[in-house]
Amino acid sequence: MKKVLIATEKPFAKAAVEGIKKILSDAGIEAVLLEKYTDANELLQKVSDVEGLIVRSDKVTREVVEAAKNLKIVVRAGAGYDNLDLAACTEHKVTAMNTPGQNSNAVAELAIALMVYMARNTFAPGTGSELKGKTLGIHAYGNVGRLVALLGKGFGMQVYAFDPFVSKEKIEQDGVKVCQTIAQLYSTCQYVSLHIPATEQTKKSINADLLKQMPQGGTLINTARKEVIDEDSVLALLQERTDLRYAADVAPACHAAAKEKLGTRYFATEKKMGAETAEANINAGLAAAQQVVNFLQKGDKTFQVNK
Ligand code: 3PG
Repeated sequence: MKKVLIATEKPFAKAAVEGIKKILSDAGIEAVLLEKYTDANELLQKVSDVEGLIVRSDKVTREVVEAAKNLKIVVRAGAGYDNLDLAACTEHKVTAMNTPGQNSNAVAELAIALMVYMARNTFAPGTGSELKGKTLGIHAYGNVGRLVALLGKGFGMQVYAFDPFVSKEKIEQDGVKVCQTIAQLYSTCQYVSLHIPATEQTKKSINADLLKQMPQGGTLINTARKEVIDEDSVLALLQERTDLRYAADVAPACHAAAKEKLGTRYFATEKKMGAETAEANINAGLAAAQQVVNFLQKGDKTFQVNK
């Protein structure tokens, strides 16, 4: 009997785990569960005899791929796959996939929630402000970025987007204005919501030079990846420009210093919360299980990311 390991340091909701197990067992596949592990060695041991692996942000390193002698497929139940060593997967003939769009709504709702939270001074007593009428910049117009744009419009915001990989027509048909450059997006928008992936090109690309172009009271919302922020330069700028604010889903390394120095102008979740809804877990988890079955039974490679 083929085995698939569901390795989630941050577990899926119970209903999602049950759904994943059902899809696998209906296909005659044994599901093995490894949740809340604290030692990467546990993952190394558990992958040793499985054909498939389903993860969230769990790190699938070269060591993991090499320890998984029978591994044919790994699916990241989620959007960003910067936690998978794609070169190692390709070398060892392991197909790597993600489940694009499945958890996007949860992340988009959190981005808007963070905007409201920052606009209300993290709910500290006193007068805050509203999102209505403010300019919102979407930095990368993928599945999450587009949903944030639509929600922002619902709040009465004026929405702009920068994404060189998405056509002007596609953005404009949502009633969103296109910015030709990143600088134009940051200098126009009071709120910027980040949705770029963490790649060699984007890591540390959001820096003080960019943020200092934001208008008075500008707020950066990061529900993407902490690696895209040049933390030292951003923290220094936020101390200089006392009107700017920063909210992030997952605390940067400088969390303690930022909290102390920036007060209500800064907020970060301690663990990544964007996709932490039952709905997102069910959507992404079940999609991942179905993709594993389709691949193992029919060789279906839809959503492969290591081509
Ligand atoms: C993603 O890339 O899909 C999100 O960051 C969610 O990550 P998570 O599954 O670790 O919550």
